[in-house]
Formats: sequence, C-alpha cells, structure tokens
Amino acid sequence: MSANERPPGPKTTSATHGSAFLKACRREPVPHTPVWFMRQAGRSLPEYLKAREGIAMLDSCMMPELVTEITLQPVRRHKVDAAIFFSDIVVPLKAIGIDLDIKPGVGPVIAEPVRTRADLDRLRELTPEDVTFVTQAIGMLTAELGSTPLIGFAGAPFTLASYLVEGGPSRNHERTKAMMYGDPELWADLLDRLAGITGAFLKVQIEAGASAVQLFDSWVGALAPADYRRSVMPASTKVFDAVAGYGVPRIHFGVGTGELLGLMGEAGADVVGVDWRVPLDEGARRVGPGKALQGNLDPAVLFAPTATVEAKTQEVLDAAAGLEGHVFNLGHGVMPTTDPDALTRLVEYVHERTAR
Ligand code: CP3
Repeated sequence: MSANERPPGPKTTSATHGSAFLKACRREPVPHTPVWFMRQAGRSLPEYLKAREGIAMLDSCMMPELVTEITLQPVRRHKVDAAIFFSDIVVPLKAIGIDLDIKPGVGPVIAEPVRTRADLDRLRELTPEDVTFVTQAIGMLTAELGSTPLIGFAGAPFTLASYLVEGGPSRNHERTKAMMYGDPELWADLLDRLAGITGAFLKVQIEAGASAVQLFDSWVGALAPADYRRSVMPASTKVFDAVAGYGVPRIHFGVGTGELLGLMGEAGADVVGVDWRVPLDEGARRVGPGKALQGNLDPAVLFAPTATVEAKTQEVLDAAAGLEGHVFNLGHGVMPTTDPDALTRLVEYVHERTAR
C-alpha cells in the first residue's frame, strides 16, 4: 500500500504522540525505557478477580464496560507505559461461530477440532460487525487512557491452528505437526484462512484506536527454523502486511523462539519479543538491524526477594543498553500468583534506572 492509499486511523496518534512506548517501538530517543507486562490484566490483581466474579472469561471479553475497567486496572496500579486490550486470542474464532470455551485452569477448548478440508468451511472471514463489542470497548478505552497507548493483539496463525487442530492446549502439538508435515496443502490453506481472520481482527482494533498491535505466536518455538520458514512464515507475513499501511508498531512475540528470532523479524514486525532464554544483546544480533526488541525478565524472578529482582532486572537493562529500541517486558506473561506489588516496584525500578 502506498502512502496516499493509507487507511484512516489510528485515532490516538496525536494524543499518544509523545509516548515513551511508541518512541521505543520506532527506535527514537526515549525519556525512560517504557515498561508493560504481557498478562498485566488478570488473575494477579485482586481488583480483577472481584470484577470478574461470576462472569465466564469469554462472556467478560464481550462486555465493553468490563473490558474497559479490567484493561485500565494495571495502568492505574502499576503506572505501566501501555495498556493491553483485555481479550483472548480465541475471541475472533468465537466471533465467527467456532464452538469453543475457555476452561479455568486449562485454556481454550474447541468443541469440534479442525482436522479435514471440510472443516475449513467453518473458518469464514471476520467482518467488523462480528466484533462490534471490540470497537465499542476500544472507543471507551482510548477516551479514558489519554496519552497512554493501547496495544491491540491477536493470536498468530500457528498458535491458533494448534488450538483448533488439537482441540485444546497441547504439550507436543502432535496432531498439528502431523497436518503440517503430512498434508502441506491443507495446512497452508488453514494458516492462510487464519491469517485473513487475524489480519481483519487487528485492523478492527487499529481503526477503533489501538496505537500498536502484538501478534502472539506463543507456541511456535516448537518448530525448527526450516519448518517455520516454509510452513508458518508466509501466513504470519500476510498478517503483518495486512496492517503495514497504518504505520502503527507491530510486535511479534513467541516463547522458546531463540532459534527463530531472525525469521520472526523477517516475517515483518517492527519489534521482536524475546523470552528470558536469550540475552537481549544476543537477541539483537539474531534479529539484525532495524528492529526494536521487547523483553525479557524471567517472570519467575518476581517470586525472589526484591534485591534479586532488581539485580536480574539490571542484567536485562545492561544487555539492552546498546539496542536501537527497547521495550521492557517479561519474557512471557505474568503468572497468576505473582505479588502485584512486585510488579509495581519493577516498573518504578526500570523508570528510575533508565531516566535520561
Ligand atoms: O495480557 C493481558 O493482560 C491481556 C489479556 C490476555 C488474555 N489472554 C487474558 C486471559 C492476552 C493477551 C491473552 C492472550 C493469550 N491467550 C495467549 C497468548 C499469550 C501467552 O500467554 O502466550 C494464549 C496462548 C491464550 C490462550 C489462553 N487463554 C490460555 C493459555 C489461558 C489460561 C488458562 C488458565 O486458566 O490457566 C487463557 C485464559 C485467559 N486469558 C485468562 C486471562 C486473564 C484467565 C481466565 C480467567 O481469569 O478466568
């Protein structure tokens, strides 16, 4: 898409212009290293548990007032530099009519897994009308957030395919890989459909006012680089291309992706998320120039004494010192039993230590 064909939005551009988070994503000078946490909204917060009482996870994602409240909770409490939209990676699949539920303590469970070519027909295109509750919630949120940017997100084609093909969470992704290796045409068509749905879902969020988007490919670290390049990268690239014209930063994240970091950058992101297994300076070498990095404190470190958290955080900041752009985050999501005060202290520490 050329500059003059650029679509409208995001609406928050002027309000969020000075944001440290957006500057770091764009590799511009920052007043301090920005911080946000994957899964910052959720079970680690007592106010979240209270707001969610008696409401099923998927139902809560479709209630704009509740989504607004839950999304704002960690911004108020921790003073993080960005909000992440409260939702789940399976929400767009539910919205196009896939029969699924999120079971507490388990994760997404699919009533009829996708395993044959005939099953693909159930994966129709997503339209903005399918997710009006998302547009409404983001409108309410950006009004409340002011200068704090909102990150929209979606599940990447591989990670969504794993839930759909396995029927639920999986340790080894055996049925998923059986399709990928054994029926490459069906696999490519499945991932291409998911890329279309994901791209459409991210567009809705950006047009409603999200100032950045993150593609979660949480389970893609299960793949070897050659298989990633051949069987997954084309679909992830299609998602990034779908939203390239908006000019909002695109973040690409996965777990256990040390061997894939270069390819994940190549897939089209502006920012590559790194888990705690690869130090950020080494991550930058693997990703190559022209990208910011996000990460990468081990979320389990937050269970150690404060002095240890600070020492481990300083190691992350030292490794990030030479990066073109750094967004501080954990290497994966906040664990539910994390002490919220440890997160608040972590935000303060990063802000103080990196103030310029
Ligand atoms: O980051 C945030 O604060 C925004 C909210 C968010 C949720 N899910 C809310 C949620 C985000 C970004 C997600 C993404 C998501 N969902 C991913 C990718 C991120 C990652 O952690 O790798 C994945 C793999 C899922 C699928 C999923 N949904 C899982 C594995 C679970 C946990 C199941 C459990 O109970 O242990 C869910 C449910 C879910 N999504 C919860 C929340 C707050 C817990 C449900 C509850 O509070 O009852």
